[in-house]
Amino acid sequence: MLSLAVATDPAWAEGAAHALDEVLVDHAHCEKKAAGMAVRLLFRYPHHGFLLEPLSRLAREELAHFEEVLRVLERRGVSFQRQKPSPYAGRLREEIRTSEPGQLVDTLLCCALIEARSCERFQLLAEAVEDAELSSFYRGLLAAEARHHGVYLELARELEPEDEVRGRLAELAAHEGAIVAEGSAAPRMHS
Ligand SMILES: [Fe+2]
Ligand SMILES: [Fe+2]
Repeated sequence: MLSLAVATDPAWAEGAAHALDEVLVDHAHCEKKAAGMAVRLLFRYPHHGFLLEPLSRLAREELAHFEEVLRVLERRGVSFQRQKPSPYAGRLREEIRTSEPGQLVDTLLCCALIEARSCERFQLLAEAVEDAELSSFYRGLLAAEARHHGVYLELARELEPEDEVRGRLAELAAHEGAIVAEGSAAPRMHS
């Protein structure tokens, strides 16, 4: 069960399906960033033993996704390049508490929400794209991102009691939903 407060506007999938190459480049960046985020947490919190293996495994999976998206881009003759990033992740981080353990809890919950939004959007893309191979590629990623969502929630529960985590998740999900509802000028995986 994903924790999103707001569903994506169906118009997003239509727009994304018409700008697939741009969305795929953004998608590759997102997979790379997801791996980078997990690795950064390993550096920032080496004393939290419970984080180490799950985040190391998750980072490797995200890098494998990154390589898969690179192969899709290659097949389509699209080069991977720098792209103006969506403000989504930066906006999401604005609500992260500044003292521990709240800072880590919120970071983990934001990661959980990003995974949930990816999962929701892969489903929408799988339905919207006409290319059968690409559609099955998106379906294949769905399960992994849903699992990552669960991993981040479980890690947050190691730090604060269940009801506090649930309350904070609802607050951050509302914030995430407001960012998504604003929409974005460029077609991107998030926002
Ligand atoms: Fe991924
Ligand atoms: Fe993921």
